[in-house]
Parts: sequence; structure tokens; C-alpha cells
Amino acid sequence: LDNGLALTPPMGWLAWERFRCNTDCINDPKNCISENLFFEMADRLVADGYLAAGYEYINIDDCWSSRTRGDDGRLRADPERFPSGIKAIADYVHSKGLKLGIYGDYGNYTCAGYPGSLGHLQTDAQTFAEWNVDFVKFDGCYAHPKDMDKGYPEFGFHLNQTGRQMVYSCSWPVYQIFSGMTPDYASIAKHCNLWRNYDDIQDSWASVTTIIDYYGDNQDVLIPLAGPGHWNDPDMLIIGNFGLSYEQSKAQMALWVVMASPLLSSVDLRTIGPEYRAILQNRAAIAISQDPLGIQGKRIFKDKGIEIWARPITPVVGEYYSYAIVFFNRRVDGTPSQVSVTIHELGMLNAAGYRTEDVFAGQSYGVLYPADRLKVDVNPSGVVLVRCSAVPARAFGRPPQQQLQ
Ligand code: GLA
Ligand code: GLA
Repeated sequence: LDNGLALTPPMGWLAWERFRCNTDCINDPKNCISENLFFEMADRLVADGYLAAGYEYINIDDCWSSRTRGDDGRLRADPERFPSGIKAIADYVHSKGLKLGIYGDYGNYTCAGYPGSLGHLQTDAQTFAEWNVDFVKFDGCYAHPKDMDKGYPEFGFHLNQTGRQMVYSCSWPVYQIFSGMTPDYASIAKHCNLWRNYDDIQDSWASVTTIIDYYGDNQDVLIPLAGPGHWNDPDMLIIGNFGLSYEQSKAQMALWVVMASPLLSSVDLRTIGPEYRAILQNRAAIAISQDPLGIQGKRIFKDKGIEIWARPITPVVGEYYSYAIVFFNRRVDGTPSQVSVTIHELGMLNAAGYRTEDVFAGQSYGVLYPADRLKVDVNPSGVVLVRCSAVPARAFGRPPQQQLQ
């Protein structure tokens, strides 16, 4: 969607995967979906360095609203759990330099059974704008997938008509795919900033790998859709929760940055361990995610449990891209696997070479030339993520071999 927003994959925090539809603020006041949760997460995003690393959206998901619309026909926040109202949360997060996201649904009800927007598209777009919301995730439960080709653009039109800049996140293709339709991706990329293609992520490695397989298996369709302002969305980062090991957490981060995916973390920022926080805040990984070219990476090798994924990134030197490469070990045989490939075999042909670094280990391999071999040890259900930055030929007027130091 060419609305000037999401020129790189959006980064932020989203309530759903970790906090779900817990509305029991009597027995579980710290974890229920309430304004306190969002105030506290906003505080953590800023105080613990996430905003400085690029995580700017704090997004409310389902179960924020009252069970019924107000007498004026408008959506309203649950008065017990959100006594200050959504606009007050927006004002608060804006005062901290963050942006606020909210959740709606194109159908009669949200997925959790709260009021949907069908028949109220214009009113609800207006309401979100009046609340100073910056991001709208628009789900598709209790709707007919066939109606979405008209309905999602229609809601987008009303968002646009409000004059307020709001990122538009659509669940349009996933509902169509699951009903057997072939999505009109040209229209989806034109009308949405990001869109869910596949299943909801759950807190498990099995869920993460199923999603990775979906994007790898369908990459020829999906990769051309991605670019500045329009992204495939494989769903939230679950790093720091209960289901992923440390290795698996780095794997999710590496695959998500190489797939040019939105980085929407769903975790309890009050209790996340420091090693997981470091993964989420890894500056070199985030730089790959936010590369200005916005090219989605692809799986270039898959055999016997080893995969290699590659994403073209800046700097571009002449006709040569730089690359982020993920070596991904899906074996479970308990011992690291050595992967050994030449730079040339990875598709990198710049004769002046590539300055190469291991992103998570923070280790440099110096400049590697196309005939050089890159050897990495990849832990079981883990990754090695490397950045290979193309070296300009004859920098400083010296021949390439002398650029090394
Ligand atoms: C759907 C979406 C999830 C979440 C829930 C909320 O399942 O895909 O991301 O928003 O609805 O009910
Ligand atoms: C039918 C139903 C409506 C609504 C629409 C969705 O018309 O009767 O309530 O669910 O489908 O497109």
C-alpha cells in the first residue's frame, strides 16, 4: 500500500500470542487485557531499549472492546478494563515516542466474539482515527472470504479518507487460502501494508518450522509481493516465551529478518530473560530486517535437514548485491553440523569480495572472495546468520587485494 508507511517491515510489540483473550482482571490483574498491560509494556519498550532498537508500535489485539457497540453505534473499549479509553493510551504511548495499534475485524464478530466492523466500516475507521491510532490489524473471522476482495479495499478507503496515517494490516489472504481460494495478491499488496498468509503462530518450535516451511515452499509466489510499503506477514516473534530454546529463538529471529517479515514481538517484557532480549535487540540482525531495498529473502538450498536462505541487501556495488545468509540446521542429531560452501556457490560473484561477519557471534571473517570457502558450525535447531557486504572495486584507488585491512 503506497501510503508512505511501513517502508521497512514494521517493528513493535503485539499482545496476542502471549496474552490472548485473558479478560479476568479480578484474578489475574497483571496479565489480563487491560489498559494497565499496555501502559506497562509501553514503559518497558522505552526503558529497556526496544524503542531505541526500532520497536516502535505497541499493538492491542482482540478482546479490548465492549461486548456491544455504544448507543451511538460506535465501538467502545471495555469500561472495566480500559477505563481511560483508547485515546488516552494513544496519548500516553505518543508521549513516550511510541505508536499505537488496534485490532478490528471485517466480519460480524472478531475471532474472539467481540463486535465486528461489517456494516460499520466507515464509522470504525473514523473512530480509530479519532482515537489517534497509528496501526490497524483487520482480521477476517465471521466473514465470507469471497467478500474480502471488496471489503478490505473498502475499509482501506475509509481509513484513507480519515486523513490520519495508519498502517493497514490485513488478514485477507489467509482466510481465502484456507477456504480454497487463490488470493488476488496484486490487489492485496496495493491495498495493505502487510498481510497474514498463513496460520496463527503458537508457542512452539513446531509452529515456527511449519511457518518457515510455508514461506519457503511458496516463495516464488510470495517474494515478488514484498517491498517497501507492502510485506508478507508470517506472524509474531515468540522469542522469550515458553516454547523456544535459545538456539531456536535465534533461528526465528534470523529467518524473520531474512524473510523481510514484520518484527512484532509478543512476549512479557516484564519478565523476558536478558539473552532473549539481546536477540530481539541485536543491531546487526535488525539492520538486515530494515534494509532499505526491502527484498524478501529466499531458501536457496534444502537437503538432509540443512537449509540456506539468502536475502539481497545493501550496499549494492555495481551489479552486485550484498547478502544476508542464514545457515539453518533442522537436524536433531545432537551435534553441530558443519556447512562449507564457497562464496560463489552462494551466488556472490563480486570479484572485489564481501566483508563477512557472523551476526550473533559478532565475529568477522574479513573479506571473502568468490572462490573462498565459508565454513560454519550450525547447532541443532539453530542458525548461523552472516552478513556479506560487497566491497567496492578499487576503493581508494588500490587493487582489491589490498583493501583487506
Ligand atoms: C486470529 C488472528 C490472531 C489473533 C486472533 C484474535 O486468530 O489470526 O492473530 O488476532 O484472531 O482473536
Ligand atoms: C451473510 C450473513 C451476514 C454476514 C455476511 C458476511 O450475509 O447473513 O450476517 O455474516 O454473510 O458476508
